[in-house]
Amino acid sequence: CGIVGYIGNQNSQGILVEGLKKLEYRGYDSAGIAVFTKDGLQIVKSLGRLANLENKLEGHPLVGSAGIGHTRWATHGKPSDANSHPHTDETHKFSVVHNGIIENYLELKEQLMAEGRHFSSETDTEVISHLIAREYDGDIVKAVQKAIQFMRGAFALGVLTEYEPDKLVAVRQASPLIIGLGDGENFIGSDIPALLEYTRNVYILNDGEMAVLSRDAVELMTIEGNFISREMITVDWDAVTAEKGGYEHFMLKEIHEQPKAYRDTMLGRMNPEGTKVILPELKMTEEQIKNIKNVQIVACGTAYHAGLVGRNLIESLARIPVENDIASEYRYRSPIVTPETLVIVVSQSGETADTLAALREGHANGAHVLAITNVVGSSIAREADDVLVTLAGPEIAVASTKAYTSQIIAFALFALYLAEVRGTQSEKEIAHILAAMQSLPEQVESILEKKDDIKAYAEHISKHEHLFYLGRGVDYAVAQESSLKLKEISYIHSEAYAAGELKHGTLALIEEGVPVIALATQEAVLEKTVSNIKEVKARGGEVLAITHQEHVNDLLKSVDRVIAIPKTLPMLTPALSIVTTQLLAYYASLALGHDVDKPRNLAKSVTVE
Ligand code: G6P
Repeated sequence: CGIVGYIGNQNSQGILVEGLKKLEYRGYDSAGIAVFTKDGLQIVKSLGRLANLENKLEGHPLVGSAGIGHTRWATHGKPSDANSHPHTDETHKFSVVHNGIIENYLELKEQLMAEGRHFSSETDTEVISHLIAREYDGDIVKAVQKAIQFMRGAFALGVLTEYEPDKLVAVRQASPLIIGLGDGENFIGSDIPALLEYTRNVYILNDGEMAVLSRDAVELMTIEGNFISREMITVDWDAVTAEKGGYEHFMLKEIHEQPKAYRDTMLGRMNPEGTKVILPELKMTEEQIKNIKNVQIVACGTAYHAGLVGRNLIESLARIPVENDIASEYRYRSPIVTPETLVIVVSQSGETADTLAALREGHANGAHVLAITNVVGSSIAREADDVLVTLAGPEIAVASTKAYTSQIIAFALFALYLAEVRGTQSEKEIAHILAAMQSLPEQVESILEKKDDIKAYAEHISKHEHLFYLGRGVDYAVAQESSLKLKEISYIHSEAYAAGELKHGTLALIEEGVPVIALATQEAVLEKTVSNIKEVKARGGEVLAITHQEHVNDLLKSVDRVIAIPKTLPMLTPALSIVTTQLLAYYASLALGHDVDKPRNLAKSVTVE
């Protein structure tokens, strides 16, 4: 979910709605705002996209200079008008927006109902408004502090009460929240893009902290009420980077931003001669690096798939054993972690609850935790011991593209750095790999130039219900990400298989005309992949191969179509091959008329477990 809040001298409705638009990627099954009007605290909310809320507000504008807003991704209670935020208590004197989960809400709800309070939604959030109302004794800050003591879970809150219209109270406990500082006005928001249009000056709250905003001041304190001071951060993100910039969809724009994201992520991270990786931001000592016994890469979704590529890079360049874990599984399998384990968490947003929990699990067992993330100041960035930032810029489309490929670049840099320190690669070899990496941006550009061929094939596959991706080695890792991309936005059922594994069961699903996309970029296993392709062809499957130019003619003997990608080192091919399958997913979704940037049932940032 995403939250915004405003207190100042301007009319708040427009500011809240604009802020929510920037947060829609955090969830968009319903939205609402509460504003102090001359008739008291008034709430308008609506099921569905923000546009529905805007329509409602047209008929019933809320006029007032303080308010809070929310865009929801349902966790407790189905998406509905009643379950949309802001929530209030029976007196309608208090209004709350909440991001996160109150774990003990059922217990609290029963208690509050036994005390005679009536509920009008199924949400955990409504419990908060009732608790605050119950604890209110003339001081909203104290009431919020008392209410929090009863609540267990993750939450970021924005609270207003009609009794104290000159105050907006914000709380952060394990869900992201920032405070924006203006002139005669102040803001709250779940993240930076929500506030960028109004201010670049922000405070980032830590867990267990709260803020009391008025028009002219912001007071920061712990939830126990101890005042704190914080350095103001000035955000240098360019507002237009958060806009669509001429492309039909954010996803297409972000696919095209990959050359820049690669360059930016590499910028300043190698010596001028291109023979050494330099990562001055890392606090890890050389001794610590030499002592690493094993690496565990933990992440969710697309970031998990980047970790699969990361494993190949670290194992082959630095010869350290690596395990990959899905973050929601990691904690519960009792992973074997020692102080000599390096845990790498990968997260575009830096806010994914499962990944954050994995980070804490690593810490609890004494491991050093490195975060690869796209968001400076995110929860994961702040809790990790070391952070390697991907410089992909804000990613808005739910389906991740440039963040994934930038994570691969970050992994390559880090693997080379490990290799340097541990002496597993010669300077010459490192220089060779760095040179290949520096050619990647241009090579991606050449793939983007051929997007019309991919579009034509996408239109063809959009007529099918099932599709398979095959690959060996890192091609298999790319197959998994390619398959996820397609499922996420086109809703075509697809599966990724290690090419050699297909014959052990899934081959039964191949019949006349079933599209199969074979990633065949790894020379060392190319012949074997071709044998697997033949197994598919013999059952009537229709095969497209993605390979390097030099193998096109050979492959055309066994497949129906080929897409050629430029030549790079085998370990770096994922940074190129994935661009073709990102485009394929994009154009398939487009051909089917789906909402590319906001696929059904999914959210960009999942801050619940
Ligand atoms: C959500 C998004 C995915 C993303 C995953 C992990 O499920 O829809 O696209 O890969 O979260 O997100 P993170 O921000 O941790 O990389």
